[in-house]
Amino acid sequence: MATTERTSAAGAELISFSVNGRQVEVAVSGVRRLSRVLRDDLGLTGTKVGCDAGDCGACTVLLNGDPVCACLVAAEQIAGCEVTTVEGLAARSPLQGRLQQSFLSHGAAQCGACTPGMLVAATALLERNSSPSEDEVMDAIGGVLCRCTGYRKIIRAVVDGGAAVVQASTAAGAAVVQASTAAGAAVGARLVRLDGKKKVEGSEIFGADETPAGALGLRVIRCPHHRARFQFGDLDRFVNEHPGVLAVLIAKDVPGVDCYGVIPKYSDQRVFAHREARFRGEAVAAVVGEADALEELVPAEFPVQWEELTPLKTMDEALANDAPLIHGHREGNVLVRGRVVCGDVDRALAEAAVVVEGEYETGFVEHAYIEPEAGFARRVGDSIEIQACTQSPYMDRDDIAKILGIAQERVRIIPTAVGGGFGSKLDLSVQPFVALAAWKLGRPVRMVYSRNESIVSTTKRHPSRIRLRAGATREGKITALDFAADFNTGAYSSWGPTVAARVPVHGSGPYYVPNYRALTRAVHTNIVPAGAFRGFGVPQAAIAQEQLYDDLADKVGMDRLEFRILNALGDDTPTVTGQVLGEGAGIRACFEALRPGWHASRARFAEFNTAASGPLRRGVGVAGMWYGCGNTSLPNPSTVRIGLKRDGRIALHQGAVDIGQGSNTIVTQICADALGAPIAQFDLVSGDTAITPDCGKTSASRQTLVTGKAAYMAGSKLRHEIVKLAGACSCATIEYGDGCVTVSENGKSKVVALGELPLDPHGYVITCDAMFDPPTSPLDENGQGNPYAVYGFGAHMAEIEVDVDLGTVRVLKVTAAHDVGRAINPTLIEGQIEGGVAQGLGMALMEEYFPGKGENLHDYLIPSAGDIPPVESILIEDASSIGPFGAKGIGEQAVIPTAPAILNAIHDAVGVRLRKIPATPDRVRAAILAKGEFTKDRGGARA
Ligand code: FES
Ligand code: FES
Repeated sequence: MATTERTSAAGAELISFSVNGRQVEVAVSGVRRLSRVLRDDLGLTGTKVGCDAGDCGACTVLLNGDPVCACLVAAEQIAGCEVTTVEGLAARSPLQGRLQQSFLSHGAAQCGACTPGMLVAATALLERNSSPSEDEVMDAIGGVLCRCTGYRKIIRAVVDGGAAVVQASTAAGAAVVQASTAAGAAVGARLVRLDGKKKVEGSEIFGADETPAGALGLRVIRCPHHRARFQFGDLDRFVNEHPGVLAVLIAKDVPGVDCYGVIPKYSDQRVFAHREARFRGEAVAAVVGEADALEELVPAEFPVQWEELTPLKTMDEALANDAPLIHGHREGNVLVRGRVVCGDVDRALAEAAVVVEGEYETGFVEHAYIEPEAGFARRVGDSIEIQACTQSPYMDRDDIAKILGIAQERVRIIPTAVGGGFGSKLDLSVQPFVALAAWKLGRPVRMVYSRNESIVSTTKRHPSRIRLRAGATREGKITALDFAADFNTGAYSSWGPTVAARVPVHGSGPYYVPNYRALTRAVHTNIVPAGAFRGFGVPQAAIAQEQLYDDLADKVGMDRLEFRILNALGDDTPTVTGQVLGEGAGIRACFEALRPGWHASRARFAEFNTAASGPLRRGVGVAGMWYGCGNTSLPNPSTVRIGLKRDGRIALHQGAVDIGQGSNTIVTQICADALGAPIAQFDLVSGDTAITPDCGKTSASRQTLVTGKAAYMAGSKLRHEIVKLAGACSCATIEYGDGCVTVSENGKSKVVALGELPLDPHGYVITCDAMFDPPTSPLDENGQGNPYAVYGFGAHMAEIEVDVDLGTVRVLKVTAAHDVGRAINPTLIEGQIEGGVAQGLGMALMEEYFPGKGENLHDYLIPSAGDIPPVESILIEDASSIGPFGAKGIGEQAVIPTAPAILNAIHDAVGVRLRKIPATPDRVRAAILAKGEFTKDRGGARA
């Protein structure tokens, strides 16, 4: 009988059970969660914990063959039982190999945080029913949340994984390619993600999956009020009276500059608030000690007295003339303003044949990645190492160095796999706390955010209020748009300046608008900071502008899709910043790709609605999108290093953190074809700041374009160096062998043995670095200039059904056409599109975070498998000469048009405009009632 380490906790009992076919015995409290037993006592970290409350399903395991949430099962309930975790699935079931392969082939694992739970739930189904229908799969995985994939690829993977023959094909029917892809054939291939195997086997290491020996724990004390002054009691006494507690850290313990932020010019956040906390959830102190002791800590015993102050919770309160300033130097509580102006918008509106106007509001949206923030730090001599989930290792490094008051070179950031980020993991979370504690105490310190802590303290999508007026000619040409937007940026700046700068550029949508004025403000309130979330404010802008354009088309009397095609930006039409793209303006092609389906759906739904006698009405909506890849008019470089090893293999140092979107694979595909080497020849080196150059942050759809281009350049350089080594010309071909390369030209070959060649300071025979910074120009005082080198374009069509009695909306299908320049890996791009559609659907219909309420995944609803309709992806390749092999980004783009397309479809179905988003059933029903004419207009349903 195998045994494990026994806990020494008082009240521990011996519990025997079988896990993955092995008998074990643990000495733990009977009420300890099974998830803790598996992860902490048995080291089976494949089982993930996303909520600890039965809401996310990440911890799903089989208990006597049935799927259960391990976080809801007490240790005493498993005595004598048989438990199977993701690590044991392969041994349990011959199906498993097929299922895992099917997940890989379909691209069903992105970040991988939900993948173990999905595989376990799917296995339970397939053991009962090896040929499930899609509906049966949706039922089976309905309790496991995924924030990345949009579920469609998971559903197909399970259906095919159970079939007698694995369909190693995608919806498009193209063959899936394994990593052995021949030289020169990587770009465009449906390559299985290179980091996928670990994700389906449960061996991927996320932020919470490692605990260094002797690690201390850390608990942050957070403000329970939206705004409060506070005073500490006797902290020394608190430490002395709590065995196992070693220290309390507060603002005065920060040795360096206690001011950080993702945009240095606007840095305003402290590790711990000083005297006054500006939002509910702000950290004021950290208790550090032995992990067990901290678990028993009762937060109410911590000596702090709060004096609640009147908070500014809304933008109206913050903008009032007599409002107190949240930051004394930011007048009117305005963090920053944005502005883009061209032409004469007032005159054009006055002269327009038709004018429409509108106002739209959107709320806070929570990122809800399945992996809460986690990591640890350890002091190594006079340096600090931090291993944590992050989207931006070098930015983390710079801020931690500042906080600790040490040189940047003395901070090492080791990024773990990231279980979803979507922008929020660009900001610091656990890093300053564990770094400070480890620095002070000289012992490793680890911290894992609870779901509640993640929700209350990390950034959200900016709520917005957008007012617009637009004018057009009688023929339907847009002549003017007046756009004004306020964004609630919360208590600290985070990415507020980026949102305020990016939105005015994009407020026009992907259309030619000759007269334009867009003014934006980021407004401080006493609410959790709003930050980066897939699109940096552009999804909110699209919700407003795309609904307004539908109104404009209706008023002109044009078909809504044809109106967009008529006004679509072209290669030679200037954008609202005066930029002429000259190439790659693929938006018209995106709209045109929707045309056949659009007209067919409109005809079909008109018939359906005419015949309808019950409460259901159908509608179809369309929306367009454009999105500049990378930073707005700012330097944005990535540096990639590639090294030829003595054994003939190639080390690729690419620091673009893969948060599930696939940069590990895409960047390698690009580099492989530039170099002319097979994918299987590559060894990936992670974004560890000690060994890999800076590839910037994973955000703004920049990694395929910027890091991809740097990888292309590095690969090309290395190719050049190798042929030079062989004395051959640039047209030579290279074969990579075991310890050698063979260079051939004009029918002659030369073998270069690598084993004896000297190594350079990086430890390679040849090392090549390449840096790429996309060409942009600064914007002038009217926002004129070239803010981005490359734009991605897209258009979505949503088909929906409204129950006019209940106000519920069901999305029947989304068709998504995206101009990606060049589809480096179509499977991964489809995954981005489907995941973006799911997030857009959530934003349109269900997701709204109310600070102080619903700070969990039970009350904050995100789409589950049953909410997601079929998604048809159409890839348009209007190449950019700047991008690698013509490629553009897709990550942010994919989410932008879904919500406005759904909202336009609701209007199409029942004739109401939702001014406040999300369109929850109560709001939809209220709008239908307010319209009051539904019965008369629509003939049949009760109003
Ligand atoms: S961790 Fe158990 S359901 Fe979320
Ligand atoms: S792949 Fe499902 S949560 Fe990331």
